[in-house]
Formats: sequence, structure tokens, C-alpha cells
Amino acid sequence: MTDRAGAKDSSSLEFAISRRADAVPVAERTRILADPGFGRVFTDHMAIVRYTEGRGWHSAEITARKPLLLDPAAAVLHYAQEIFEGLKAYRLGDGTLAMFRPDANARRFQQSAKRLAMPELPAELFINSIREVVDVDRDWFPTVDGGSLYIRPFMFASEAFLGVKPASEYLYLVIISPVGGYFKGGSPAVSIWVSQDYTRAAPGGTGAAKCGGNYASSLVAQAEATKHGCDQVVFLDAAEHKWLEELGGMNVFLVFEDGTLQTPPLSGTILAGITRDSVMTLARAEGLTVREEPYSIDQWRSDAKSGRLTESFACGTAAVVTPIGKVASPSGEFKIGAGGPGQLTTRLKQKLVDIQHGVAPDPHGWVYKLG
Ligand SMILES: Cc1ncc(COP(=O)(O)O)c(C=O)c1O
Repeated sequence: MTDRAGAKDSSSLEFAISRRADAVPVAERTRILADPGFGRVFTDHMAIVRYTEGRGWHSAEITARKPLLLDPAAAVLHYAQEIFEGLKAYRLGDGTLAMFRPDANARRFQQSAKRLAMPELPAELFINSIREVVDVDRDWFPTVDGGSLYIRPFMFASEAFLGVKPASEYLYLVIISPVGGYFKGGSPAVSIWVSQDYTRAAPGGTGAAKCGGNYASSLVAQAEATKHGCDQVVFLDAAEHKWLEELGGMNVFLVFEDGTLQTPPLSGTILAGITRDSVMTLARAEGLTVREEPYSIDQWRSDAKSGRLTESFACGTAAVVTPIGKVASPSGEFKIGAGGPGQLTTRLKQKLVDIQHGVAPDPHGWVYKLG
């Protein structure tokens, strides 16, 4: 097998492991792990793999997590060739750690790379890089209830060259953040602001890729949501400004009184969430109907008011399944159901969480044990 530029197969690269001598002291680590928050503390080590055109992937190591030395002309700092992934490792009942569907993240990372004209990382190397760094930092698993390791693989253009072209050098890294809940206070239901002035992605753009630029452009809309007292922003489509797309970092589902579910289709402007796919699979396995069809903001308002729509929820790796209680826009706001978590939302969330934690059987082969 060859990758871009004809380099040799690098899927089974060995990682050189150098443990840091100045790891965080045990007492300090114990204190951190009792209340890690989300994304603000990190483990001692990271994985790093280099890519050079013509040579392929090379120099794989697990090393101390430390600042990177970058040339000021590094292409990522100018033209934003950067992609990332987000997945979690959970602790199962028997004490072992496990990832959830890492093969799906590996595939999506390859799709994102393709869209950003970057080299595709072999799936085996993606999974091995995570396994190696989790293994070295396994003592960093949080002690807080519901804690997990949030794993952040990412890749960026490191070549020093000020020309607009795909770079010839890249760095791929994995860092890990021990995390508790995503929403402070475990928020039973979130409020959503419908962005009027901003869209997240247009047809032909990068909406289906997990690249940093998508998130940079979502920040003003999220700030607007916060200003209006809402937790999250929902984006409408760019062409008609009418159809629900997704939240800044989560997919969205609608639940109807006849027990059916609906979610916007993967039209190329929406990220193909792995939680989205898992929720659809679990719902269909229960015999429920799930439609992947466009749904308009006007329909959402009228269905919520008439009672045809009973629940709505957002889903993603970070916050798992989160009920939507209220939707607000300049033209007013409407409540979803009773404004709290709905029955089906709660049941599907529990099913998913139970599989992720090894409490329930795993009929779809989603749990990847790390030992
Ligand atoms: C824009 C966006 N949509 C949806 C999701 C949910 O994807 P997943 O369920 O794979 O975490 C994420 C999070 O990764 C995201 O950033």
C-alpha cells in the first residue's frame, strides 16, 4: 500500500517511548482528577508522528507533553491546514479502559484530511497512537463521577512556506484531557439560539470536515447565543436560511408524538457525528423510525407549539446526548415539551452510556478495549 507521494506503508510504525522525568506529582494529580472540568487539564505525555512528502509517516514517538517549536512561516498559521478528532476512553466495570468506535474517528479523520488536501493517516496508526499514549498515561483517569479521558488527535501543516498550496510537511499529535461533565452543573436541558446572521457551512465548503476553521467561524455566533442567555447556537443552511443544520459542536434530533425521530441529512454541510450514527442505530434496533430529512425552523416552532413535536436533543462525543429545552430567536422563543429531558431522549442516552461503559452488551461491536 502506498500513501500520498508514493511513500511506503506506514500503518505499523513503532512508537519510541520516552517517559518524562518531571511528571506531575501524584498528590497534585489526585487533586486534579477529583474535579478536572472539561478540556483544561492534560496528561503528562503526547503522541507525535511526522509526515514528509516522499518519505511518508515517520519518527513516531510518545514523549513529554510540551510546547511545540514552530517556524513563524508554518503553513497552518497562515492558511489553516488543520484537522482534528475528538473521542473518549471510558472505564469499564472490570477496570479496563475502552474507546468508543475509534475506527469511525479514524475514517472521519481521513475524510477531513482529503478535504483539506492533507495526507491520510492510516487507520491502524491512528488507533495505535491513541492506544500507546493512553497506556502511558492511564493513571490520569479521572476519579470524578462520569469522568473519562477526552482524546484529541490532530494534524497540521508544519512546512515553512508562504505559498498557497498543500504543504509538504505535517505533524500529527495526540493529547489527552481528563474530563468530567461537559456542561457545568450537568445541565438537564440546554437552551438554543437560532443564528440569524451567521451560517456554519455552505455547499461545497468544509462543513463535513472536522477542521479548525469551522470552529473559528462559529465563535461569533456562539457569543451571540451567550449574549441572549442561551447555552448553544443552532445554525441554519446557508442557501435558504431555513433548514436546521447542527449546533456548533453537536448534531440535532427531533422526536415526535408518534414516536418517530428525525435528524437533518448529511448533505455535505454537516459533520457526520459518530454519536448521531450510534443514536440512529440504537433507535432503529428498537424498531423506531428515524428519518434523515430536512426540517425547517418554522416547522420546529409550529410542531413544538402544537405538541406534534415532543422532544429535541443534541448529541456528540463531548456532551453525549443533551436535551434541548428552549429555542430562542429574535422573533421570540418556544419551549420543547415540558422544557426538560424527554422520555425517549433519556432512554436513548442511557442505552448509549451503558454500552460505552460496558454495563450493557455491545451488539454492534462499538467498544474497543484498551486493556
Ligand atoms: C460540528 C460538530 N457536529 C457534530 C459533532 C458530533 O460528532 P461526534 O458524535 O462524532 O462527536 C461534533 C463533535 O465532534 C461537531 O464538532
